[in-house]
Amino acid sequence: MPATNPRSLKDAALRARDNAHAPYSNFRVGAALLDESGEIITGCNVENATYGLTVCAERVAIFKAISEGRRRFRAIAVAADSKILTPPCGACRQIIWEFCGDIPVYLVNVQGGEKEYQMRELFPAPFDEKQLE
Ligand code: THU
Repeated sequence: MPATNPRSLKDAALRARDNAHAPYSNFRVGAALLDESGEIITGCNVENATYGLTVCAERVAIFKAISEGRRRFRAIAVAADSKILTPPCGACRQIIWEFCGDIPVYLVNVQGGEKEYQMRELFPAPFDEKQLE
């Protein structure tokens, strides 16, 4: 069922967090990406015993979506259990910019806290395909 409102996207990110594989940090994160047709693609963080091979929830959601042939996205939500709302890490900002550009980023926590950013605010001077022209 296509969903377009921020509430459904935030709730999907909170639910996706339940699937997090985070036995090392115990910091569970969920992400939900809204594509142009209103479909939601979710992700969670997937940690590894080597630590460095851990993949964040946002990148799992984006790579899932890209691998399904989806190419245009309207918004992303990120959910964690942290008093300070969890923004995408630097690596995820680069990847979100690459595939989504200047979309709204909704941060939520399990306590009901919420904040909205635009990607341009979180990633003001991007390196992207324009540098390669
Ligand atoms: N993490 C995410 O999944 N997304 C973020 O935006 C920040 C960090 C994960 C990576 C790692 O599994 C755990 O949170 C602690 O850094």
